[in-house]
Amino acid sequence: MTQLLGYKILRPVGSSISWNVAAAVNRAGRVVALKTLNWPSRETLPPELVELIHKLEQGPLADWASLTEERIGSLVGLVDYDMRPILWLAVEFMPGGSLRDRIGWLSWSELARLVADVAGTLSRLHIRGLSHLNVRPENVLFDTEGRPYITDMGLLELDHWMLTHLTWEVIDSAVKIRARIINYTPPEYIGRYTEAPDHRADIYQLGVMLYEATTGRLPFEGDILSLSRKVLEEKPRPPHEIRSDIPAGLSDIVLKAMDKDPDKRYDSTLEFERELRAVLRSEARGGRGT
Ligand SMILES: Nc1ncnc2c1ncn2[C@@H]1O[C@H](COP(=O)(O)OP(=O)(O)O)[C@@H](O)[C@H]1O
Ligand SMILES: [Mg+2]
Repeated sequence: MTQLLGYKILRPVGSSISWNVAAAVNRAGRVVALKTLNWPSRETLPPELVELIHKLEQGPLADWASLTEERIGSLVGLVDYDMRPILWLAVEFMPGGSLRDRIGWLSWSELARLVADVAGTLSRLHIRGLSHLNVRPENVLFDTEGRPYITDMGLLELDHWMLTHLTWEVIDSAVKIRARIINYTPPEYIGRYTEAPDHRADIYQLGVMLYEATTGRLPFEGDILSLSRKVLEEKPRPPHEIRSDIPAGLSDIVLKAMDKDPDKRYDSTLEFERELRAVLRSEARGGRGT
């Protein structure tokens, strides 16, 4: 069996713009998802990337590890991480796939309920003054009982860096991946990721996720150049105009969460969750939305 960083590798489970991911077992016999930075050679790490990795280590990764120790219920645990020999993370293994796998298979109301559950978890982070900043369907993973957990806290900036610095040949589906990343990037951070984002970015990303989960589409489409402009300037087509079984009340929630102006979004994920559950309840009473 292959050994890596003191872990026994069981099998590869996937890869992404920033990571290679394998199922692995640590010395204590715990199964983890071992994520190693997707970079061809550690000797050639550019100084800018090293700097970003340092920033992640001191910021979001340290926060994620401390939240794991506090056992925040529905946050996937960060079991261990290090920058040496190359950035790697050992993350609690989630056997139930991601929310992305369920889009198009579950009803809009079942998917919306899962988004409401994620909003509940984010509230627990926000109370502690922390934000997740990487909310998207691929980062909502399920346990064996089908409960949703959120993972990959604070790692969107790394994906952005990789996308702008990797050569196109390295990434087969770069255009598609980029479109997803831009759609999930709040307008206030397009093009300038230097300011510290706050919880209102999470509310924006929840809005995008609710949009995609219920309609099966991203809010903004188009070529890469026009996408950023659309995120900055255009109002997305309301979900109920795309799918007639979606109530207009759900579109109101999506559009408010996705307001270009962070001050005009919901004040909190708690409020977002409350309004979403109210729409779901009224749909259930009316015999629709199942
Ligand atoms: N904690 C985990 N448990 C099980 N599988 C995981 C875990 N984290 C990531 N994966 C899987 O590894 C693959 C790559 O994940 P990742 O690098 O986070 O990219 P993305 O979030 O874009 O899917 C995906 O198929 C994902 O489901
Ligand atoms: Mg992920």
